[in-house]
Amino acid sequence: MAKISVRDLSVRGKKVLVRVDFNVPTEEKDGAVRITDDTRIRESLPTIELLRERGARVVLMAHFGRPKGQPNPKYTLRPVAEHLSGLLKAPVAFSPEVVGASARAVVDSLQDGGVALLENVRFHAEEEANESGFAKALADLGDLFVNDAFGAAHRAHASTAGIAQHCAQSAMGLLMEKELQYLQGELEKPQRPFLVILGGSKVSDKIGVIKALMEKADVFLIGGAMAYTFYKAIGIGTGKSRVEADKVGLAVELLELAKQKGVKFLLPIDNLETQEFSATAQPRATGILEVGGGITEGWEAVDIGPETVKKYAAEIAQAKTVLWNGPVGVFELPPFAHGTRGLAEAVANVGQSGAVTIIGGGDSVTAVKQFGLADKMTFISTGGGASLELLEGRVLPGVAALTEK
Ligand code: 3PG
Repeated sequence: MAKISVRDLSVRGKKVLVRVDFNVPTEEKDGAVRITDDTRIRESLPTIELLRERGARVVLMAHFGRPKGQPNPKYTLRPVAEHLSGLLKAPVAFSPEVVGASARAVVDSLQDGGVALLENVRFHAEEEANESGFAKALADLGDLFVNDAFGAAHRAHASTAGIAQHCAQSAMGLLMEKELQYLQGELEKPQRPFLVILGGSKVSDKIGVIKALMEKADVFLIGGAMAYTFYKAIGIGTGKSRVEADKVGLAVELLELAKQKGVKFLLPIDNLETQEFSATAQPRATGILEVGGGITEGWEAVDIGPETVKKYAAEIAQAKTVLWNGPVGVFELPPFAHGTRGLAEAVANVGQSGAVTIIGGGDSVTAVKQFGLADKMTFISTGGGASLELLEGRVLPGVAALTEK
């Protein structure tokens, strides 16, 4: 972590440009936009509040959705400015322009401790193209840059990376620091046993993560549809379940790699299978699966089974560090949520007895929140793609661009 922190900056009276990730889920009801989960906004408050306390003029930059380089009222950040103002209990000036004279006027009107939010940076195609003139126009609105947008740090865009070249100092925000501490620092020398739960639908999404973590972890628990590609590789029938036929060879390779490294790499021993894919489906347990046997022809596996939950929970109970990425069943539908819930409870329990538990972003975060277990975890990432890339050991452009300590 050789980058400077927002704590290292001298900010009184300075205009500090802060990139945040306000890409939050919303829904429209009766013509009004409602934010359905404001975690990312709340998680940016410590940095904003620190800067305000220290007398900075805070200029927030963010993206929202994928407006494809065009202004589009559907993707305006105005409702987010209002929501943020409520959380801060202070006014948040909103600039309908991202750069240029009117944006400058909004920024210039700030007092020490004041906060402004610029309109969606993705209303300009130059943002995603990381165009240097646009990055400079953003940088010209302030004196210093702070990147707190962990969730967007895997993007080499003008407001996440390019801008740093035009600012005297560029620092990590407090959320960025915390994310790097848990998803990188903590996993360098983890307390052992270090157990990784990996789920989700595709092995292809997780190849990089499996390979990188194979160097560090002691145990892998595999679930979700990706497990069935491994089944295919070892000769367990998969019925109508989702299998990535072109990744079966890779699954063989990964199993071999685990053997070579002496890593315990566990696949589900039973599953829930169904013929109906709906919220009222009544899936049945397959019983213990063996090579040569498998999921019933014409049936689809949608969750890990009760015996697997027991077996995996016993492994989790032994762990000192747990990292979880990807649900182990189709948890969005209640009849297929038992496995994911069972593991979430096991992770919460081991966390209560002192293990470090890290939920590495995306759908597993949604699941843990849905089960009401979020506050029982040591750390929950705000990143989706960014956490995966970091876990793969890749350099995030939004971090690389910052000033060295
Ligand atoms: C996210 O929601 O994962 C981040 O905000 C990045 O958004 P993007 O995938 O549209 O770049």
